[in-house]
Amino acid sequence: MGIQDIKHQADQLLSLIEQDDSDYATLQSVYLGRNGRLNQLMQLLPSLSPEEKREAGIILNQTRAILSQKIEERRQLGSTTQEYDLTIPGKKPKVGHLHPISQAMNEITRIFERIGFMRVRYPEADWEWFAFDALNMPKDHPARDEWETFWIDTETKHPELGGIVLTPHTSNGQVREMQRLQGKPPIRMINIARCYRRQADVTHTEMFHQFEGLVVDKGITIQHLKGTIDHFAQQFYGPNAKSRIRPFHFMFTEPSFEVDFSCTVCNGTGKIGADKCRFCKSGWHEVGGAGMVHPNVLKAGGIDPAEYTGFAFGWGIERTYTLRQGLKLDDIRLLYSNDLRFLEQF
Ligand code: DAH
Repeated sequence: MGIQDIKHQADQLLSLIEQDDSDYATLQSVYLGRNGRLNQLMQLLPSLSPEEKREAGIILNQTRAILSQKIEERRQLGSTTQEYDLTIPGKKPKVGHLHPISQAMNEITRIFERIGFMRVRYPEADWEWFAFDALNMPKDHPARDEWETFWIDTETKHPELGGIVLTPHTSNGQVREMQRLQGKPPIRMINIARCYRRQADVTHTEMFHQFEGLVVDKGITIQHLKGTIDHFAQQFYGPNAKSRIRPFHFMFTEPSFEVDFSCTVCNGTGKIGADKCRFCKSGWHEVGGAGMVHPNVLKAGGIDPAEYTGFAFGWGIERTYTLRQGLKLDDIRLLYSNDLRFLEQF
């Protein structure tokens, strides 16, 4: 019996205890007890030379320290295989899901992709020019105020593109998309992005989402616009959903419209039984704007308005989505409150 055997057996002890799932008291007596395995090893010491004895002493002391530590860990755990209480109900891991607005974005993307649109993404901090000027909005036009825009502090302005804004609408994507295609239609884009405006009350959040459609080709008319809006309404709100367009004014479209969808609660009748529908009052909900792309906007994107026409629309996702749920949120900010009691309902 030599020092090598002692080393080997000490190693074996350490791997044995590793796999041993006995309780604390058993481990204590089997490994460290008077007749335990470590003491059995100690009894081999007298047969060694004084040199080897010293080395073996160090090895065995280390082994004892490791064994004690393992046994102490087991004591603190307090549980062994035999002590599991199988009747305690398990803890279910929480299963999350996408935020309702992300769900809506995915769904909207798919509806438009199926009819040949392509989802694009453009900067959410963009040049003033793409957000306003390219959209036929002169520098001093009061319409710009409606967007109440957040400006990024910059030392200087770009000589042509101006300052940088947090995009107040997704319409900045229109001329960007025309430029991406080097002014060569056909264009069928859907741009979904965050938008920012200086507004915060129960029906507005400073950050919100819009989706913007743009179609440019030869011979595009209002009928294509209306057909596309109807298609979306039926896909998103159900086969009985209807849409209507009303004359309005936007600088970047001519003619321009506001778009309404029939109410999902009263099916567009405005009535529930003999009573007025309290959700819509009229059978319709306004969701956003649309129109035929203004010739100046086509020009800004390098497209000849004598050859091509197009339509565009831009709607808020929050509103479009909550309408479908028949939800009149008392406070739209709930959507971004990160309150699971709210989010788990979607
Ligand atoms: N950009 C407009 C807004 O934020 C919405 C809009 C109106 C977008 C008409 C369009 C459009 O593309 O044609 O209020």
